[in-house]
Amino acid sequence: MKNIAIYPGSFDPVTNGHLDIVERGLKIFDKVIVAILHNTGKKALFTVKERIDMLEKSTKKLKNVEIDTFAGLLVDFAAQKKAHAILRGMRALSDFEYEFQLALMNRKLNREVQTIFLMTGLRWIYTSSSIIKEAARFGGNINGMVTPVVKKKLKEKFDQMKFIPD
Ligand code: PNS
Repeated sequence: MKNIAIYPGSFDPVTNGHLDIVERGLKIFDKVIVAILHNTGKKALFTVKERIDMLEKSTKKLKNVEIDTFAGLLVDFAAQKKAHAILRGMRALSDFEYEFQLALMNRKLNREVQTIFLMTGLRWIYTSSSIIKEAARFGGNINGMVTPVVKKKLKEKFDQMKFIPD
């Protein structure tokens, strides 16, 4: 039996912090399925198709990684994929409350699926998709925070939007 973990998130876009969790997850699990799910509290910059494309290109050198998406409950997706673990990265205390709530709700919905947390590497403790998007929107240097393919997509997206301040 394969030990499969789902690594769910918005990945809008995937960051090097996310990729660090995927790589470390692969040391524990036989396979990591990186899955884009809907977060009702967030409005995405990229379409799901664009996010899948960036994830596929950013993980192409990694073995035993699958990219997928699911329009529904995370635990239902885990059951469909025969995964017994949900992998999540935890950056700081500020992440804890939300992650605790999510893990407990998922446990209530399906007791067969366990949530496993990995502490984010120190290098990525201050980064998030949101803060990287903000820096990129205003032309800030995001080298080393995302893969070159994501950096290019961010530039294209913000050039398209031709952001004009009020
Ligand atoms: O990267 P994010 O935005 O923190 O990821 C949150 C995500 C997408 C994992 C979460 O919102 C999610 O699981 N959405 C799918 C619906 C669901 O199962 N919600 C949790 C139980 S109600």
